[in-house]
Amino acid sequence: MEKELVVEIIELSNLGAGIAKQDGMVIFIENTCPGDVVKIEIIKQTKNYAIGKLLEVITPSKYRVIPMCPMQKVCGACQIQFIDYNYQLKLKKKIVEDYVGVNRSKSKIDVNVMDTIPSPQIKEFRHKIQYPISETQNSKRLIAGYYKPKSHEIVNIKYCPIQPKICDKIIEYIREIASKYNISGYNEKKHLGLLRHVVIRVSNYTGENLVTLVINDTKISKNIKEFANDIFNNFNEVVGVCVNFNNKKTNLILTDKTESICGVDYIEEKLCDITFRIGPNTFFQVNPESAENIFKYVKEYIKNNFNKPTIFDAYAGIATFGIVMSDIAQKVISVEENKESINLAKDVLKINNINNVELYAMDTAKYLEETTEKFDITILDPPRKGCTEEALDKTLKVTKSKIIYVSCNPQTLIRDLEYLISKGAKVSFIQPFDMFCHSYHVECVTIIDVE
Ligand SMILES: C[S@@+](CC[C@H](N)C(=O)[O-])C[C@H]1O[C@@H](n2cnc3c(N)ncnc32)[C@H](O)[C@@H]1O
Repeated sequence: MEKELVVEIIELSNLGAGIAKQDGMVIFIENTCPGDVVKIEIIKQTKNYAIGKLLEVITPSKYRVIPMCPMQKVCGACQIQFIDYNYQLKLKKKIVEDYVGVNRSKSKIDVNVMDTIPSPQIKEFRHKIQYPISETQNSKRLIAGYYKPKSHEIVNIKYCPIQPKICDKIIEYIREIASKYNISGYNEKKHLGLLRHVVIRVSNYTGENLVTLVINDTKISKNIKEFANDIFNNFNEVVGVCVNFNNKKTNLILTDKTESICGVDYIEEKLCDITFRIGPNTFFQVNPESAENIFKYVKEYIKNNFNKPTIFDAYAGIATFGIVMSDIAQKVISVEENKESINLAKDVLKINNINNVELYAMDTAKYLEETTEKFDITILDPPRKGCTEEALDKTLKVTKSKIIYVSCNPQTLIRDLEYLISKGAKVSFIQPFDMFCHSYHVECVTIIDVE
Protein backbone atom coordinates (compact mmCIF):
# COMPACT_ATOMS: atom_id res chain seq x y z
CA MET A 1 0.00 0.00 0.00
CA GLU A 2 1.24 3.53 -0.80
CA LYS A 3 2.48 5.54 2.19
CA GLU A 4 0.26 8.56 1.48
CA LEU A 5 -3.32 8.09 0.33
CA VAL A 6 -6.57 9.97 -0.16
CA VAL A 7 -9.50 7.96 1.20
CA GLU A 8 -13.15 8.37 2.13
CA ILE A 9 -14.27 7.49 5.67
CA ILE A 10 -17.16 5.04 5.41
CA GLU A 11 -17.95 4.27 9.05
CA LEU A 12 -16.82 4.59 12.66
CA SER A 13 -15.08 1.76 14.51
CA ASN A 14 -16.26 0.50 17.90
CA LEU A 15 -13.38 2.46 19.45
CA GLY A 16 -14.26 5.76 17.78
CA ALA A 17 -11.79 5.76 14.85
CA GLY A 18 -12.91 6.42 11.27
CA ILE A 19 -12.74 3.45 8.87
CA ALA A 20 -11.70 3.59 5.21
CA LYS A 21 -11.11 0.73 2.76
CA GLN A 22 -8.37 0.55 0.15
CA ASP A 23 -7.83 -2.51 -2.06
CA GLY A 24 -9.91 -4.57 0.37
CA MET A 25 -7.75 -3.50 3.34
CA VAL A 26 -9.43 -1.84 6.35
CA ILE A 27 -7.69 1.36 7.53
CA PHE A 28 -8.40 2.95 10.93
CA ILE A 29 -7.86 6.72 11.19
CA GLU A 30 -8.45 8.65 14.41
CA ASN A 31 -10.12 12.09 14.41
CA THR A 32 -12.09 11.37 11.25
CA CYS A 33 -15.82 11.12 10.67
CA PRO A 34 -17.98 9.11 8.23
CA GLY A 35 -18.31 11.20 5.06
CA ASP A 36 -14.84 12.86 5.35
CA VAL A 37 -12.45 12.66 2.41
CA VAL A 38 -8.99 12.77 3.98
CA LYS A 39 -5.32 12.61 3.12
CA ILE A 40 -3.55 10.11 5.37
CA GLU A 41 -0.17 8.58 6.03
CA ILE A 42 -0.04 4.82 6.67
CA ILE A 43 1.86 4.41 9.95
CA LYS A 44 1.23 0.71 10.54
CA GLN A 45 0.25 -2.20 8.32
CA THR A 46 -0.53 -5.79 9.30
CA LYS A 47 -2.00 -8.71 7.35
CA ASN A 48 -5.54 -7.75 8.31
CA TYR A 49 -5.64 -3.98 8.78
CA ALA A 50 -3.68 -0.72 8.57
CA ILE A 51 -3.53 2.40 10.73
CA GLY A 52 -3.45 5.80 9.07
CA LYS A 53 -2.52 9.20 10.51
CA LEU A 54 -4.70 12.11 9.45
CA LEU A 55 -2.69 14.64 7.40
CA GLU A 56 -5.46 16.80 5.95
CA VAL A 57 -9.24 16.88 5.74
CA ILE A 58 -9.82 17.46 2.03
CA THR A 59 -13.63 17.44 2.07
CA PRO A 60 -15.21 17.55 5.54
CA SER A 61 -18.18 15.34 6.34
CA LYS A 62 -21.49 17.16 6.81
CA TYR A 63 -21.47 15.82 10.37
CA ARG A 64 -18.29 17.67 11.39
CA VAL A 65 -18.68 20.48 13.95
CA ILE A 66 -16.18 22.71 15.74
CA PRO A 67 -15.38 20.89 19.02
CA MET A 68 -16.22 22.92 22.14
CA CYS A 69 -12.84 22.00 23.65
CA PRO A 70 -9.65 23.49 22.17
CA MET A 71 -7.69 20.46 23.46
CA GLN A 72 -9.95 17.83 21.82
CA LYS A 73 -7.30 16.54 19.40
CA VAL A 74 -4.56 16.11 22.00
CA CYS A 75 -6.59 14.94 25.01
CA GLY A 76 -7.74 11.31 25.06
CA ALA A 77 -11.09 11.90 26.80
CA CYS A 78 -13.52 12.99 24.03
CA GLN A 79 -12.63 11.08 20.85
CA ILE A 80 -15.70 12.14 18.84
CA GLN A 81 -16.46 15.65 20.15
CA PHE A 82 -15.93 17.06 16.63
CA ILE A 83 -18.97 15.10 15.40
CA ASP A 84 -22.49 16.56 15.54
CA TYR A 85 -24.23 15.34 18.73
CA ASN A 86 -27.29 13.84 17.00
CA TYR A 87 -25.00 11.90 14.69
CA GLN A 88 -22.96 10.72 17.71
CA LEU A 89 -26.19 9.14 19.01
CA LYS A 90 -26.73 7.33 15.69
CA LEU A 91 -23.11 6.12 15.69
CA LYS A 92 -23.51 4.76 19.22
CA LYS A 93 -26.59 2.77 18.20
CA LYS A 94 -24.57 1.38 15.29
CA ILE A 95 -21.67 0.46 17.59
CA VAL A 96 -24.11 -1.67 19.64
CA GLU A 97 -25.61 -3.14 16.46
CA ASP A 98 -22.13 -4.05 15.24
CA TYR A 99 -21.44 -6.00 18.43
CA VAL A 100 -24.84 -7.70 18.08
CA GLY A 101 -24.01 -8.52 14.47
CA VAL A 102 -27.12 -6.85 13.01
CA ASN A 103 -25.27 -5.63 9.94
CA ARG A 104 -23.55 -8.91 9.19
CA SER A 105 -25.13 -11.67 7.13
CA LYS A 106 -25.11 -13.99 10.15
CA SER A 107 -26.47 -12.20 13.20
CA LYS A 108 -25.12 -13.52 16.49
CA ILE A 109 -28.36 -12.81 18.32
CA ASP A 110 -31.74 -11.76 17.08
CA VAL A 111 -32.49 -8.55 18.95
CA ASN A 112 -33.74 -5.07 18.22
CA VAL A 113 -31.44 -2.17 19.16
CA MET A 114 -33.47 0.98 19.87
CA ASP A 115 -32.42 4.58 19.11
CA THR A 116 -29.94 5.99 21.65
CA ILE A 117 -31.59 8.13 24.35
CA PRO A 118 -29.57 11.37 24.55
CA SER A 119 -27.92 12.78 27.65
CA PRO A 120 -29.91 15.75 29.07
CA GLN A 121 -26.62 17.67 29.44
CA ILE A 122 -23.88 17.46 26.84
CA LYS A 123 -21.64 20.07 28.53
CA GLU A 124 -20.57 19.91 32.20
CA PHE A 125 -22.22 16.49 32.54
CA ARG A 126 -19.29 14.60 34.06
CA HIS A 127 -19.50 14.79 37.85
CA LYS A 128 -16.42 12.77 38.74
CA ILE A 129 -12.95 13.75 37.61
CA GLN A 130 -9.75 11.79 38.19
CA TYR A 131 -6.73 13.78 37.09
CA PRO A 132 -3.31 12.14 37.12
CA ILE A 133 -0.64 14.51 38.46
CA SER A 134 3.01 14.99 37.56
CA GLU A 135 5.33 18.00 37.56
CA THR A 136 7.43 20.02 35.09
CA GLN A 137 11.09 19.03 34.97
CA ASN A 138 12.69 22.36 35.84
CA SER A 139 10.19 24.63 37.58
CA LYS A 140 8.54 21.66 39.38
CA ARG A 141 5.08 23.07 38.77
CA LEU A 142 2.25 20.55 39.00
CA ILE A 143 0.77 19.20 35.78
CA ALA A 144 -2.82 17.92 36.00
CA GLY A 145 -5.16 16.65 33.29
CA TYR A 146 -6.10 13.66 31.18
CA TYR A 147 -3.64 11.43 29.33
CA LYS A 148 -2.95 11.89 25.63
CA PRO A 149 -4.52 9.04 23.59
CA LYS A 150 -2.72 5.71 24.09
CA SER A 151 -0.04 7.24 26.35
CA HIS A 152 0.65 8.25 29.92
CA GLU A 153 1.69 11.75 28.95
CA ILE A 154 -0.54 14.21 30.80
CA VAL A 155 -2.25 17.08 28.96
CA ASN A 156 -2.17 20.01 31.43
CA ILE A 157 -5.85 20.93 31.29
CA LYS A 158 -6.93 24.42 32.39
CA TYR A 159 -10.46 24.23 31.04
CA CYS A 160 -12.58 21.15 30.43
CA PRO A 161 -16.08 21.83 29.05
CA ILE A 162 -17.48 18.40 29.95
CA GLN A 163 -17.10 18.87 33.71
CA PRO A 164 -18.53 21.51 36.10
CA LYS A 165 -16.44 24.73 36.04
CA ILE A 166 -15.67 24.45 39.74
CA CYS A 167 -13.37 21.47 38.97
CA ASP A 168 -11.10 23.68 36.82
CA LYS A 169 -10.96 26.23 39.67
CA ILE A 170 -10.06 23.63 42.31
CA ILE A 171 -7.38 22.07 40.11
CA GLU A 172 -5.87 25.49 39.28
CA TYR A 173 -5.77 26.34 42.99
CA ILE A 174 -4.03 23.03 43.73
CA ARG A 175 -1.43 23.84 41.03
CA GLU A 176 -0.88 27.30 42.56
CA ILE A 177 -0.45 26.37 46.21
CA ALA A 178 1.35 23.00 45.93
CA SER A 179 4.88 24.46 46.13
CA LYS A 180 3.98 26.42 49.31
CA TYR A 181 3.44 23.05 51.07
CA ASN A 182 6.27 21.22 49.28
CA ILE A 183 3.82 18.92 47.48
CA SER A 184 5.60 17.25 44.55
CA GLY A 185 3.89 15.69 41.52
CA TYR A 186 4.26 11.95 40.89
CA ASN A 187 6.85 10.57 38.47
CA GLU A 188 5.34 7.31 37.25
CA LYS A 189 8.56 5.96 35.68
CA LYS A 190 10.69 6.54 38.77
CA HIS A 191 7.82 5.89 41.22
CA LEU A 192 8.83 9.09 43.05
CA GLY A 193 6.94 12.23 44.08
CA LEU A 194 3.93 12.57 46.36
CA LEU A 195 0.69 13.57 44.63
CA ARG A 196 -0.46 10.89 42.13
CA HIS A 197 -4.06 11.84 41.41
CA VAL A 198 -6.69 14.36 42.40
CA VAL A 199 -10.21 12.95 42.39
CA ILE A 200 -13.16 15.34 42.62
CA ARG A 201 -16.77 14.26 42.98
CA VAL A 202 -19.40 16.92 42.40
CA SER A 203 -23.07 16.78 43.29
CA ASN A 204 -25.32 17.93 40.46
CA TYR A 205 -28.10 18.66 42.97
CA THR A 206 -26.32 20.44 45.84
CA GLY A 207 -23.15 21.64 44.07
CA GLU A 208 -21.07 20.04 46.86
CA ASN A 209 -17.53 18.88 46.03
CA LEU A 210 -15.47 16.14 47.68
CA VAL A 211 -11.74 16.30 46.93
CA THR A 212 -9.51 13.23 47.34
CA LEU A 213 -5.73 13.59 47.18
CA VAL A 214 -4.15 10.28 46.19
CA ILE A 215 -0.63 10.14 47.61
CA ASN A 216 2.41 7.93 47.12
CA ASP A 217 2.81 7.43 50.87
CA THR A 218 1.41 5.48 53.79
CA LYS A 219 0.86 8.29 56.29
CA ILE A 220 -0.31 11.88 56.47
CA SER A 221 2.42 14.51 56.90
CA LYS A 222 1.95 17.97 58.44
CA ASN A 223 2.36 19.46 54.94
CA ILE A 224 -0.36 17.38 53.32
CA LYS A 225 -2.68 18.18 56.23
CA GLU A 226 -2.12 21.92 55.78
CA PHE A 227 -2.44 21.58 51.99
CA ALA A 228 -5.81 19.80 52.41
CA ASN A 229 -7.02 22.41 54.91
CA ASP A 230 -6.05 25.23 52.56
CA ILE A 231 -8.14 23.69 49.73
CA PHE A 232 -11.05 23.10 52.13
CA ASN A 233 -10.97 26.69 53.46
CA ASN A 234 -10.64 28.31 50.06
CA PHE A 235 -13.84 26.88 48.50
CA ASN A 236 -17.33 27.05 50.01
CA GLU A 237 -18.34 24.28 47.60
CA VAL A 238 -15.76 21.82 48.99
CA VAL A 239 -17.48 19.91 51.81
CA GLY A 240 -14.55 17.61 52.52
CA VAL A 241 -10.97 16.71 51.63
CA CYS A 242 -9.72 13.12 51.97
CA VAL A 243 -6.37 11.46 51.43
CA ASN A 244 -6.10 8.08 49.74
CA PHE A 245 -2.90 6.09 50.29
CA ASN A 246 -1.45 4.44 47.18
CA ASN A 247 2.28 3.71 47.34
CA LYS A 248 2.22 0.74 44.95
CA LYS A 249 3.55 0.61 41.37
CA THR A 250 0.11 0.23 39.85
CA ASN A 251 -2.32 1.76 37.36
CA LEU A 252 -5.07 1.52 39.96
CA ILE A 253 -6.07 5.06 40.96
CA LEU A 254 -7.63 4.57 44.40
CA THR A 255 -6.86 1.93 47.02
CA ASP A 256 -9.28 0.98 49.79
CA LYS A 257 -7.30 3.06 52.33
CA THR A 258 -8.80 6.54 52.65
CA GLU A 259 -8.68 9.01 55.54
CA SER A 260 -10.80 12.11 55.92
CA ILE A 261 -8.72 15.24 56.70
CA CYS A 262 -11.36 17.94 56.90
CA GLY A 263 -15.12 18.25 56.53
CA VAL A 264 -17.19 15.20 55.64
CA ASP A 265 -16.18 12.19 53.53
CA TYR A 266 -19.20 12.17 51.22
CA ILE A 267 -21.36 14.42 49.05
CA GLU A 268 -25.12 14.28 48.86
CA GLU A 269 -26.76 13.83 45.46
CA LYS A 270 -30.47 13.70 44.70
CA LEU A 271 -31.88 11.49 41.96
CA CYS A 272 -35.51 10.40 41.50
CA ASP A 273 -36.40 12.31 44.73
CA ILE A 274 -33.98 10.22 46.78
CA THR A 275 -30.96 11.64 48.58
CA PHE A 276 -27.85 9.51 48.00
CA ARG A 277 -24.47 9.74 49.69
CA ILE A 278 -21.37 9.26 47.55
CA GLY A 279 -17.92 8.64 49.06
CA PRO A 280 -14.43 8.96 47.53
CA ASN A 281 -14.30 5.35 46.38
CA THR A 282 -17.93 4.38 45.84
CA PHE A 283 -19.27 3.70 42.37
CA PHE A 284 -21.80 6.25 41.18
CA GLN A 285 -22.64 7.06 37.57
CA VAL A 286 -20.56 10.03 36.38
CA ASN A 287 -23.48 11.63 34.49
CA PRO A 288 -26.29 12.02 37.08
CA GLU A 289 -28.98 13.33 34.72
CA SER A 290 -28.47 10.51 32.23
CA ALA A 291 -28.36 8.03 35.14
CA GLU A 292 -31.70 9.41 36.35
CA ASN A 293 -33.13 8.77 32.85
CA ILE A 294 -32.03 5.14 33.12
CA PHE A 295 -33.53 4.71 36.61
CA LYS A 296 -36.83 6.23 35.43
CA TYR A 297 -36.82 4.02 32.32
CA VAL A 298 -36.25 0.82 34.32
CA LYS A 299 -38.84 1.86 36.92
CA GLU A 300 -41.45 2.60 34.24
CA TYR A 301 -40.79 -0.79 32.63
CA ILE A 302 -41.21 -2.60 35.96
CA LYS A 303 -44.35 -0.58 36.87
CA ASN A 304 -45.97 -1.42 33.54
CA ASN A 305 -45.21 -5.14 33.75
CA PHE A 306 -45.35 -6.11 37.45
CA ASN A 307 -47.38 -5.50 40.56
CA LYS A 308 -45.17 -5.19 43.66
CA PRO A 309 -42.45 -7.60 42.46
CA THR A 310 -39.50 -8.96 44.43
CA ILE A 311 -36.24 -7.59 43.01
CA PHE A 312 -32.66 -8.81 43.23
CA ASP A 313 -30.25 -5.87 42.65
CA ALA A 314 -26.82 -7.31 41.83
CA TYR A 315 -23.55 -5.32 41.52
CA ALA A 316 -25.48 -2.71 43.44
CA GLY A 317 -22.94 0.06 44.24
CA ILE A 318 -24.75 2.20 46.81
CA ALA A 319 -27.91 0.24 45.91
CA THR A 320 -29.08 2.97 43.53
CA PHE A 321 -31.33 0.70 41.46
CA GLY A 322 -32.66 -1.17 44.49
CA ILE A 323 -33.46 2.02 46.39
CA VAL A 324 -35.07 3.82 43.43
CA MET A 325 -37.26 0.74 42.75
CA SER A 326 -38.13 0.15 46.43
CA ASP A 327 -41.48 2.01 46.43
CA ILE A 328 -42.88 -0.14 43.60
CA ALA A 329 -41.41 -3.39 44.98
CA GLN A 330 -42.55 -5.80 47.65
CA LYS A 331 -38.95 -6.39 48.66
CA VAL A 332 -35.46 -5.68 47.28
CA ILE A 333 -32.16 -7.41 48.00
CA SER A 334 -29.07 -5.42 46.97
CA VAL A 335 -25.65 -7.10 46.85
CA GLU A 336 -22.35 -5.24 46.41
CA GLU A 337 -18.81 -6.35 47.24
CA ASN A 338 -17.51 -2.88 48.27
CA LYS A 339 -18.17 -2.37 52.02
CA GLU A 340 -17.87 1.43 51.84
CA SER A 341 -20.73 1.48 49.30
CA ILE A 342 -22.95 -0.76 51.43
CA ASN A 343 -22.32 1.42 54.51
CA LEU A 344 -23.34 4.52 52.53
CA ALA A 345 -26.41 2.65 51.23
CA LYS A 346 -27.39 1.94 54.87
CA ASP A 347 -27.31 5.71 55.55
CA VAL A 348 -29.42 6.33 52.43
CA LEU A 349 -32.08 3.88 53.65
CA LYS A 350 -32.19 5.70 57.01
CA ILE A 351 -32.28 9.25 55.57
CA ASN A 352 -35.05 8.31 53.15
CA ASN A 353 -36.99 6.13 55.60
CA ILE A 354 -36.94 3.04 53.37
CA ASN A 355 -37.39 -0.34 55.04
CA ASN A 356 -37.97 -2.96 52.34
CA VAL A 357 -34.38 -3.08 51.02
CA GLU A 358 -31.90 -5.62 52.45
CA LEU A 359 -28.19 -4.95 51.87
CA TYR A 360 -25.35 -7.47 51.64
CA ALA A 361 -21.65 -6.60 51.31
CA MET A 362 -20.49 -9.66 49.38
CA ASP A 363 -19.70 -11.22 46.01
CA THR A 364 -22.81 -11.62 43.82
CA ALA A 365 -22.12 -15.25 42.85
CA LYS A 366 -21.46 -16.16 46.49
CA TYR A 367 -24.74 -14.58 47.61
CA LEU A 368 -26.60 -16.45 44.88
CA GLU A 369 -24.91 -19.71 45.89
CA GLU A 370 -26.20 -19.34 49.44
CA THR A 371 -29.70 -17.95 48.88
CA THR A 372 -32.83 -20.09 48.72
CA GLU A 373 -34.99 -17.14 47.60
CA LYS A 374 -36.38 -16.53 44.12
CA PHE A 375 -37.06 -13.09 42.62
CA ASP A 376 -39.48 -11.82 39.98
CA ILE A 377 -36.78 -9.56 38.55
CA THR A 378 -32.98 -9.49 38.70
CA ILE A 379 -31.16 -6.27 37.83
CA LEU A 380 -27.57 -6.97 36.75
CA ASP A 381 -25.26 -3.94 36.53
CA PRO A 382 -21.72 -5.41 36.45
CA PRO A 383 -18.42 -3.59 35.82
CA ARG A 384 -16.95 -3.39 32.27
CA LYS A 385 -15.75 -7.00 32.36
CA GLY A 386 -19.35 -8.23 32.58
CA CYS A 387 -20.57 -11.30 34.53
CA THR A 388 -18.97 -14.69 35.01
CA GLU A 389 -20.77 -17.74 33.59
CA GLU A 390 -21.18 -18.92 37.19
CA ALA A 391 -22.99 -15.68 38.14
CA LEU A 392 -25.21 -15.93 35.03
CA ASP A 393 -26.11 -19.58 35.72
CA LYS A 394 -27.10 -18.70 39.27
CA THR A 395 -29.03 -15.61 38.14
CA LEU A 396 -31.10 -17.83 35.84
CA LYS A 397 -31.84 -20.17 38.75
CA VAL A 398 -33.11 -17.44 41.11
CA THR A 399 -35.01 -15.29 38.56
CA LYS A 400 -38.67 -16.11 37.93
CA SER A 401 -39.50 -13.68 35.12
CA LYS A 402 -37.08 -10.99 33.82
CA ILE A 403 -33.43 -10.04 33.95
CA ILE A 404 -32.73 -6.35 33.37
CA TYR A 405 -29.08 -6.14 32.34
CA VAL A 406 -27.49 -2.66 32.59
CA SER A 407 -24.10 -2.52 30.90
CA CYS A 408 -21.39 0.04 30.15
CA ASN A 409 -19.58 -2.30 27.73
CA PRO A 410 -21.52 -3.65 24.71
CA GLN A 411 -18.78 -6.20 23.97
CA THR A 412 -19.14 -8.07 27.29
CA LEU A 413 -22.91 -7.46 27.25
CA ILE A 414 -23.29 -9.35 23.95
CA ARG A 415 -21.01 -12.16 25.18
CA ASP A 416 -23.20 -12.54 28.29
CA LEU A 417 -26.44 -12.33 26.26
CA GLU A 418 -25.20 -15.12 23.97
CA TYR A 419 -24.52 -17.24 27.04
CA LEU A 420 -27.97 -16.55 28.53
CA ILE A 421 -29.62 -17.37 25.17
CA SER A 422 -27.70 -20.65 25.02
CA LYS A 423 -29.33 -21.48 28.36
CA GLY A 424 -32.86 -20.79 27.08
CA ALA A 425 -33.36 -17.07 27.86
CA LYS A 426 -34.91 -14.70 25.29
CA VAL A 427 -33.62 -11.18 24.72
CA SER A 428 -36.45 -8.69 24.09
CA PHE A 429 -34.53 -5.51 23.14
CA ILE A 430 -31.51 -3.34 23.86
CA GLN A 431 -31.99 0.32 24.77
CA PRO A 432 -28.77 2.39 24.47
CA PHE A 433 -28.36 5.58 26.56
CA ASP A 434 -25.74 8.27 26.14
CA MET A 435 -23.96 8.51 29.48
CA PHE A 436 -20.49 9.41 28.20
CA CYS A 437 -21.11 12.15 25.60
CA HIS A 438 -18.39 12.80 22.99
CA SER A 439 -16.69 9.44 23.59
CA TYR A 440 -17.35 6.08 21.88
CA HIS A 441 -18.65 4.63 25.18
CA VAL A 442 -22.30 3.65 25.40
CA GLU A 443 -24.53 2.43 28.24
CA CYS A 444 -27.27 -0.14 27.47
CA VAL A 445 -30.34 -1.48 29.23
CA THR A 446 -31.40 -4.93 27.99
CA ILE A 447 -34.63 -6.71 28.86
CA ILE A 448 -34.32 -10.49 29.03
CA ASP A 449 -37.13 -13.03 29.43
CA VAL A 450 -36.38 -16.15 31.44
CA GLU A 451 -39.90 -17.61 31.68
C1 LIG B 1 -21.20 -0.59 37.11
S1 LIG B 1 -21.19 -0.50 38.85
C2 LIG B 1 -22.92 -0.43 39.19
C3 LIG B 1 -23.32 0.17 40.49
C4 LIG B 1 -24.78 0.51 40.69
N1 LIG B 1 -25.69 -0.47 40.16
C5 LIG B 1 -25.12 1.90 40.17
O1 LIG B 1 -25.88 2.02 39.22
O2 LIG B 1 -24.64 2.88 40.73
C6 LIG B 1 -20.67 -2.10 39.28
C7 LIG B 1 -20.56 -2.38 40.76
O3 LIG B 1 -20.31 -3.78 40.94
C8 LIG B 1 -19.43 -3.96 42.05
N2 LIG B 1 -18.87 -5.31 41.89
C9 LIG B 1 -17.89 -5.72 41.06
N3 LIG B 1 -17.72 -7.04 41.11
C10 LIG B 1 -18.64 -7.51 42.00
C11 LIG B 1 -18.98 -8.81 42.47
N4 LIG B 1 -18.34 -9.89 42.03
N5 LIG B 1 -19.98 -8.92 43.37
C12 LIG B 1 -20.63 -7.83 43.83
N6 LIG B 1 -20.35 -6.56 43.41
C13 LIG B 1 -19.37 -6.41 42.51
C14 LIG B 1 -18.49 -2.77 41.94
O4 LIG B 1 -17.88 -2.50 43.19
C15 LIG B 1 -19.44 -1.65 41.48
O5 LIG B 1 -19.96 -0.95 42.58
